[in-house]
Amino acid sequence: KRILLLNGPNLNLLGRREPSHYGHTNLTEIEHKLKNLAESWGWDLESFQSNHEGDLIDQIHSAMDQKDLIIINPGAYTHTSIALRDAFAGTAIPFIEVHLSNIHGREEFRHRSMLAPLAIGQISGFGAYSYTLALIAARNYLEATP
Ligand code: DQA
Repeated sequence: KRILLLNGPNLNLLGRREPSHYGHTNLTEIEHKLKNLAESWGWDLESFQSNHEGDLIDQIHSAMDQKDLIIINPGAYTHTSIALRDAFAGTAIPFIEVHLSNIHGREEFRHRSMLAPLAIGQISGFGAYSYTLALIAARNYLEATP
């Protein structure tokens, strides 16, 4: 199977950024860990991070017919981006939404996700391990759907 791991704005700062919310693991470590796990199953996993909404949308469009599933941490675009939501609606690529922090336990404005209603599901609050959980959930999902 072919997985695309997408990370949105400010996630390039992981490891240095507000560690009380986001932990000490950096994005490269997370990407390597996921790639290794995917490869141990014979799967392919490609990673992309951008601070730009349009670049993330371009990645979703390019994933059409190329990837089986997207794992995405949309960062703050989670709470604002109708454009990202429309990209998922338009391409119909199955996706899992991931957050390091528990967005439901934080400020009110983080409680709502524009994307979650279209996602297979949302994983939130387990730090870097949220990504591992998402990949395990992806396997469960893709093995159930031929
Ligand atoms: C985040 C939560 C968002 O509210 C925030 O804007 C982020 C990171 C998380 O992984 O916990 O940038 O998506």
